Amino acid sequence: MSEYPVSIAIDDQEFKQFQQLLLEKTGIFLSPVKKPLLTGRLNRRLRELGVRSYADYYRAIVLEEFPDELQILINCLTTNETAFFREPRHFDFLRDLCGRPEFLKRMVRVWCAAASSGEEPYSIAMVLADTLRHDNWELIASDVNSEVLDQARVGYYALQRGADIPKHYLQRYCLKGVGQHAGAFVIGPELRGNIRFQRINLVEPLPALGQFDVIFLRNALIYFPADIKLHVIEQTRRFLKLGGHFIVGHSETLLGTVSDFKPVSPSIYRRI
Ligand SMILES: C[S@@+](CC[C@H](N)C(=O)[O-])C[C@H]1O[C@@H](n2cnc3c(N)ncnc32)[C@H](O)[C@@H]1O
Repeated sequence: MSEYPVSIAIDDQEFKQFQQLLLEKTGIFLSPVKKPLLTGRLNRRLRELGVRSYADYYRAIVLEEFPDELQILINCLTTNETAFFREPRHFDFLRDLCGRPEFLKRMVRVWCAAASSGEEPYSIAMVLADTLRHDNWELIASDVNSEVLDQARVGYYALQRGADIPKHYLQRYCLKGVGQHAGAFVIGPELRGNIRFQRINLVEPLPALGQFDVIFLRNALIYFPADIKLHVIEQTRRFLKLGGHFIVGHSETLLGTVSDFKPVSPSIYRRI
């Protein structure tokens, strides 16, 4: 039996290759301090494949020797931290918006463009379902990471993750697990019917999605260098109706990017 290294080291040249590949395919910039993060997440994958070095792994991806390996790499390297009702002020804003008379009369469309494992789109959906008629809203939830999107579709979470969901939403839209599912909950059918999950990479040409009243793109732009951030904003804002709202994370800003966004409060912009 030949010996296999327990931990596979990556040198600067190899790291640069992965840095460039990830940037090109997703827009995400991995700074050199993220080297341990990269090896921490990929070492096991290399072992599973029986690949002995990062140079060999890179070659195998580029030459498409393993099917779907590029997507697996992307799934390993995106940061998917999220939570239900994260940055709650945005959900208060959405609730107020949906309470406006013009929103009660027509179909309201929302796009959650970095949906991760579903906590954010389901939080949006709870507000929409609570404020609008059942057949009056539609939500598209997308992400570049196919694995977290699969988790989002399933909508199954540990009970602790639901701690920030308002009690009446929890009771109305979530089903508590029993028996072997004790300690977990699942999102109920009332919300699921109005949500479409779709893998969308924001740096690639975007598919036809129609026009939206609100776009949530929170805590994803921070991973992109300035030129890619601008490209992503330029692309996504074309899907926003005139007068529609674009919401980014609290630590992000659209100031200095596009001229037709008017700030209505920090991290919330209106297309004029
Ligand atoms: C930190 S999470 C934020 C999740 C959620 N929006 C929130 O604020 O809680 C960033 C998400 O952006 C996604 N992402 C990164 N690059 C992307 C791209 N090029 N296209 C689409 N999604 C991307 C990641 O997969 C990840 O799920």
